[in-house]
Amino acid sequence: MSSGADPVLAVDDLRKRYDDTVALDGVDLAVADGEFVAVVGPSGCGKSTLLRVLSGLEAEFGGRVAVDGTDVCDGGSDAVGMVFQEPRLLDWADVRENIAVGLPADVDPDAPAARERVDDLIETVGLGGFADSHPDELSGGMAQRVSLARGLAYNPSVLLLDEPFSALDRLTKADQQDHLLDVWEARGTTVVLVTHDVEEAVYLADRVVVLGGQPGTVESVVDVDIDRPRERADTELVALRREVTAVLGR
Ligand SMILES: Nc1ncnc2c1ncn2[C@@H]1O[C@H](COP(=O)(O)OP(=O)(O)OP(=O)(O)O)[C@@H](O)[C@H]1O
Ligand SMILES: [Mg+2]
Repeated sequence: MSSGADPVLAVDDLRKRYDDTVALDGVDLAVADGEFVAVVGPSGCGKSTLLRVLSGLEAEFGGRVAVDGTDVCDGGSDAVGMVFQEPRLLDWADVRENIAVGLPADVDPDAPAARERVDDLIETVGLGGFADSHPDELSGGMAQRVSLARGLAYNPSVLLLDEPFSALDRLTKADQQDHLLDVWEARGTTVVLVTHDVEEAVYLADRVVVLGGQPGTVESVVDVDIDRPRERADTELVALRREVTAVLGR
């Protein structure tokens, strides 16, 4: 970890079982405030399960998970925002309303302060001018940015993203990755990004956590000690990509 301060996200000996399936077994992870961590691993190793537990969507699990020093339990935490693989937008609602869904329950979305917050988020994710558009008028990348803005609406300390770019073409994906970096740098939000894409993981993250096995556990942690802005073709980055890929292939 990059600092000696208390981690904003602390996972100790996390175990999660679904009926007969043990999805996670003894996962330890500490994420520092403002850190960008990527989680990679083969299909079925428990990546989404890990994010679901972190976000409070899973009531029952073993071990301890704390965000900002507070235990995560059923019902989710205001401190955590989640972006799913598919944008999951309401097709009858416009961009503004779709983002407002992510506001805290006690905030009236029509109150001036709330409208201002949503307007800010629309600008943050680069969708100025599209507030009144509906999902069927947006490209895949734009829809994903609405989903990102919704995940940020709580102003969470930790933003969790589950393969948010996997459905996008290569160029759009590269754009969205840079956009996420801009948002992360501007807001200082701690990020945990699950991805299948090792290139994406090393390009974006401060650390890459490799989950593996069945049940899943942490197999390796690779530090990406390379200054930003990074070059995707940087030799060091490519070497780290190979290192992570080698761990995955074991
Ligand atoms: N709701 C559920 N009920 C029963 N088993 C589940 C449930 N959700 C996940 N599992 C099982 O838990 C294990 C981990 O699943 P999870 O979705 O976390 O994997 P993943 O790493 O996200 O996979 P992928 O890369 O394919 O998205 C798998 O064996 C899966 O079948
Ligand atoms: Mg998954």
